[in-house]
Amino acid sequence: MAVSGGIAAYKSAELIRLLRKQGAEVRVVMTRSAMQFVGPLTFQALSGNPVHSELLDADQEHAMGHISLARWADALIIAPATANTLAKCSHGLADDLLSTLYLAATCPVYVAPAMNQAMWHKPVTQENIQKLKSHGVIIIGPEPGEQACGETGFGRMSEPSDICRRLIGEPSAACLSGLKVLISAGPTREPLDPIRYITNRSSGKMGYALAKAALKAGAQVTLVSGPVALAAPANTEIVYVETAAQMYAAVIAKAAEHDIYIGAAAVADYTPALTEAEKIKKQAEQTTLTLQKTKDILAEVAQLAERPFTVGFAAETHDLEHYAQDKLARKNLDMIAANWVGRDLGGFDSEQNALQVFWKNGQKSLAMTDKNQLAEQLIGLIAERREFNHR
Ligand code: PMT
Repeated sequence: MAVSGGIAAYKSAELIRLLRKQGAEVRVVMTRSAMQFVGPLTFQALSGNPVHSELLDADQEHAMGHISLARWADALIIAPATANTLAKCSHGLADDLLSTLYLAATCPVYVAPAMNQAMWHKPVTQENIQKLKSHGVIIIGPEPGEQACGETGFGRMSEPSDICRRLIGEPSAACLSGLKVLISAGPTREPLDPIRYITNRSSGKMGYALAKAALKAGAQVTLVSGPVALAAPANTEIVYVETAAQMYAAVIAKAAEHDIYIGAAAVADYTPALTEAEKIKKQAEQTTLTLQKTKDILAEVAQLAERPFTVGFAAETHDLEHYAQDKLARKNLDMIAANWVGRDLGGFDSEQNALQVFWKNGQKSLAMTDKNQLAEQLIGLIAERREFNHR
């Protein structure tokens, strides 16, 4: 946690307490001005670790300098983040420990801004926020309300409990307790001949993260997995498949006995019409492959008489909402989680992702974060919507 100099710094003390209660280990970095608001001893006592404040302190650099701090952390939260800190981070300045730590961080970064409402609305601050968002930083708040300076408007730092929830997810409420969840994950491989196949860039990380999140939420989980380089989550029934046809058979055989189906796999839409028994030999300058449409697993699950709550994914390079809404309606789904693909951050084979989730008459954005946390948020939302449908 990095604390910059604002009156909201007192709220960060509560945030440390909440994070530790959830089992997190917390190390605190303070700017000099933050120390004018709250003494480092307070944060030291609450975090159980020495507070870091100097970039060029020989002792601190030796014990845990900015690079080791950046590598140690699974997440960096800057709370409160003043307008000055936002400006420095968005422009890559590194003239103190906090800004240097931000620059060195490779983990997900969360920022909870806090400032006077006029400072928040100033175009340059908004530009800095947009810039940070485009760099993958997750902005939490600020909230509207009465400010310490006596004015009213946007600029209050979000409540520590809300920040904690965004960082760690809901305290593992057993929201899927007693339910059976079937998840597809990873790519499929469509063979052209004994040695070649058509596939895609899916790593399986999103689907495997969902399996772990569903387990944590108390569900019994079956994972139908395409070929990936991930270890099977413990306590999960796992069925390995290669082709879209095999994935279809495995999912359809199991769907009716599950309460929820989540189609996170990137299933081939087309497969070679013919798989040659022997290696295809190099001949003409150009060649043509005839492809045959595969069966749509998701749409068929949604048609079953004993139908689970059916959640699809939509991977889009453009017109995300339009295509996601179309798939939701056309495939008769209960929910669809749409993600951008083919960009620098998120989607295929990335540690992080962001989702725009749609259901009939509703939607929710889940901000860019690592896939494990995102999966927990999506599982929470699925449990909520399924519960709502059953009322
Ligand atoms: O695996 P990762 O590297 O972590 O990447 C995650 C992901 C980008 C693969 C994942 O988040 C994702 O978007 N999965 C769906 C990819 C996809 O195939 O999207 P689509 O828009 O083409 O398909 C829509 C839905 O139909 C998907 O739920 C898909 O599983 C399903 N489908 C598609 C074709 C088919 N024949 N049968 C299906 O069930």
